[in-house]
Amino acid sequence: MAIQVNPSILSADFANLQAELARISTADAAHVDVMDGHFVPNLTLGLPVVEALQAVSPVPLDCHLMIEAPDRWAPAYAEAGAAGVTFHAEAAAAPVKLAREIRRAGGRAGLALRPATPLEPFVDLLGEFDMLLVMTVEPGFGGQSFLDVTLPKLRRARRAVDASGLDVRLQVDGGVSAATIERAAEAGADVFVAGSAVYGADDAAAAIAQLRELATAACAH
Ligand code: DX5
Ligand code: ZN
Repeated sequence: MAIQVNPSILSADFANLQAELARISTADAAHVDVMDGHFVPNLTLGLPVVEALQAVSPVPLDCHLMIEAPDRWAPAYAEAGAAGVTFHAEAAAAPVKLAREIRRAGGRAGLALRPATPLEPFVDLLGEFDMLLVMTVEPGFGGQSFLDVTLPKLRRARRAVDASGLDVRLQVDGGVSAATIERAAEAGADVFVAGSAVYGADDAAAAIAQLRELATAACAH
């Protein structure tokens, strides 16, 4: 399956989000980091802004909810039209019920794991999800360094997904750049979030194309 590059608008100019979305029209989706100031120390944007982005985005929205009460809030993001809604395993009270609600609302359900959260308790739940997000930094901020210590978990996730025969995407998020994307691709990721590496570039489309090329070549190994 073709790899995907989803730029994170966390590194975009928040005063010009419509224009910033237009810069990434060649991407597979726009990654939208929703932070509530509780699950993570940072505070970004919420449902009303996602609804506004949804109305003008040239690409689907991939919402990453770093919030304390996803059971309460996540389905509304799917109802707002987000193509993907990913919530954190550490925060969800009833992840299976929640994933089903997201899917029922028309979204693709994603489960995110912080770097120190083990994969194994969730392997039997993979069929409930369309995507597993293996965080490659501690969530909360853009521009952090890629954590290589997460690669063994990514490899185990790839093996579990392949063994299951399920159609589950494996996303990496945090510190993904031209310098690190091949390592993530070789370990089994097929959806790549990149914030500073895309929005920090003068030519965002060229940065997206370069990341896609590097990941595709590394996946082919
Ligand atoms: C971090 C966010 C990421 C962030 C990635 O908590 O989930 O999506 O925007 O930014 P970079 O690519 O700069 O590490
Ligand atoms: Zn994110």
